[in-house]
Amino acid sequence: MITIHDLWKSFEGNQVLQGLTLSVKKGETLVILGRSGVGKSVLLKHIVGISHADKGYIEVDGVRISDLRGNARYQASLNMGMLFQGAALFDSMNIEENTAFFLKQHGNLETGKKYAKSEINDRVDEALQMVGLEGTQKKMPSDLSGGMRKRAGLARLIVYRPKYLLYDEPTTGLDPITAMQINELIVKTQEELKATSIVVTHDIISALFVGDRLALHKDGKIAYIDEPDPFLKIDDPIIEFLRKTISEDPRTFRRK
Ligand SMILES: Nc1ncnc2c1ncn2[C@@H]1O[C@H](COP(=O)(O)OP(=O)(O)O)[C@@H](O)[C@H]1O
Ligand SMILES: [Mg+2]
Repeated sequence: MITIHDLWKSFEGNQVLQGLTLSVKKGETLVILGRSGVGKSVLLKHIVGISHADKGYIEVDGVRISDLRGNARYQASLNMGMLFQGAALFDSMNIEENTAFFLKQHGNLETGKKYAKSEINDRVDEALQMVGLEGTQKKMPSDLSGGMRKRAGLARLIVYRPKYLLYDEPTTGLDPITAMQINELIVKTQEELKATSIVVTHDIISALFVGDRLALHKDGKIAYIDEPDPFLKIDDPIIEFLRKTISEDPRTFRRK
């Protein structure tokens, strides 16, 4: 479970987070919607510990991780995997090396021991198979399409089975078919890892496909949070816009 309480963050007078409070339940996929520039990526960066709040706190499984610094903060973040907007693969490493990176770096999260080479290979193969990239081990990121790079980025996370998965705009910039493959992968990953996930997006179709609950990030706060059906009935101009998008989008179909 992740609890975010009264989080404030400004950058040179630009007040981005303004007392943001949010609770993410164990095992759920929570989708955060919101306009560009409201601070969705900033929020995720606070959760994984790349950014530090001016005020407020974040607790993960009862541990106030926002108070931790240095190695303690780093250790606490090992249970979290974030898929960055650009997939953030290392361009000079092939897909196998990219996928093995965190495994080699962190070792076994429970025992702290390094993995044997054969075990790394097995887990890399398994992760690549899970995202449908078997056989791409020796390819370089530049050999892959945008959707394949996203999937490789996901393989690099799931290979060490983090308990928390954070996705920043996982479908942005992808064609509709590739976007739907990513949505399906997010659901599959959730089911296989029994993880807790936060998906940031402005794609309402993707939100409805993957989300157990939807939240709207607006004016530096979570303005609303609810299950998809009641969420879509909320009287708010942004949600009105989302409703209209769904009724006009030919891809509109729901998982549940
Ligand atoms: N490191 C930073 N330094 C200065 N301003 C930043 C920084 N990171 C984000 N911002 C600003 O915070 C606001 C929210 O950004 P962001 O979280 O990236 O928005 P989005 O909701 O589109 O993900 C923007 O105005 C952005 O310019
Ligand atoms: Mg962003």
